[in-house]
Amino acid sequence: AGVIKVGLLGLGTVGGGVIKTIRSQQEKLAQRLGKRIEIVKALVRDSEKERAVQVDPALLTTDFEDVLKSDVDIVVEVMGGVEPTYDYVRALIEKGCHVVTANKELLAKRGPELVDLANQHQVHLAYEASVAGGIPILSVLRQFLRTNDIQGVRGILNGTTNFILTKMEAEQLSYQEVLKQAQELGYAEADPRSDVEGFDAMYKLYILAQLVYGESLPLADVVRKGIADLSAGHIRIASELGYRIKLIAQAQKAEQGIRLSVQPTVLPIAHPLAQIQDAFNAVQLSGNIVGDLLFTGRGAGELPTASAVVEDLAYLLTQPFTPHPVWTEKNAAAQLEQGQDER
Ligand code: NAP
Ligand code: HSE
Repeated sequence: AGVIKVGLLGLGTVGGGVIKTIRSQQEKLAQRLGKRIEIVKALVRDSEKERAVQVDPALLTTDFEDVLKSDVDIVVEVMGGVEPTYDYVRALIEKGCHVVTANKELLAKRGPELVDLANQHQVHLAYEASVAGGIPILSVLRQFLRTNDIQGVRGILNGTTNFILTKMEAEQLSYQEVLKQAQELGYAEADPRSDVEGFDAMYKLYILAQLVYGESLPLADVVRKGIADLSAGHIRIASELGYRIKLIAQAQKAEQGIRLSVQPTVLPIAHPLAQIQDAFNAVQLSGNIVGDLLFTGRGAGELPTASAVVEDLAYLLTQPFTPHPVWTEKNAAAQLEQGQDER
């Protein structure tokens, strides 16, 4: 049997989870793919650092050129950020390498260019792990909800902030204490301001909107407010009145065009989204044929995210290349003006 050679960009929380999952599922994957998966290189910043997974030190490199030169079939990008990640992913696609990524910031900021490049080079660019962690929501939208008109999408798309809000309410812990816990559990972004100020959820919403509506808004047009201004007092008062505050991401298509927002929202405690606790995520949507749907699951952390990465990796290796839908953006303000002109 042959070997599928995989390169990793990053070996932190998610990269470690990917290695653990490939190891624990090696036999099942080999049966499905007819080949064994082998990690041949892993790019890191510090090759001396102690890691949660044991790897052969010879696999580690701090030089991207080593990954590019390696004879890799597919690369898993789990290092995060846009620079230098965009240049690395670009170079790999140009070399004809398939890419699996969990990087929502990269996709939301440079997705249209990368999707176009992957199409030109006929390689897969797979990114299930970038939205809602272990919930396979992108695959569901892409494959099983194509005939439905999706009337709106609402959800909890950031595990860290949901974990913070849950613990602040249940254990009366301070915001700083809970954020530290979220970081220790591997939920938070390298810069946790991305979580608490709503950027992370905004990137995910942007990606969802591309799939649901075939277009999204420039990030500057998304209404975004995080949880940094919420105090324990706000959370307690809401709770005493039978409500919960959640960071809700919402995409809607109105006559004037798409509206995207991420903001703290007060929900009655019985609301399905108010019931989502800890680092769980949820996506609620409504299709004209199917009606209301609610998907929930672990939205952050080592293994839920690795699950999405490894499922993507195995799936794409069994599929012929098909072009990705073209990503487009429409300016909300321009749409609004156009709508007003028409009236
Ligand atoms: P992490 O624990 O901080 O790991 C990042 C890894 O990338 C580390 O191994 C780091 O090397 C390496 N790295 C970072 N910048 C580098 C550079 N310039 N050159 C070489 N190596 C570099 O991050 P993570 O939590 O695994 O997240 C990785 C990606 O997955 C991010 O895009 C994140 O948004 C996304 N994601 C994370 C989760 C989650 O729950 N954590 C869930 C879904 C998606 P060192 O180890 O040497 O520092
Ligand atoms: N920091 C992100 C979160 C990781 O907390 O949701 C999962 O994308």
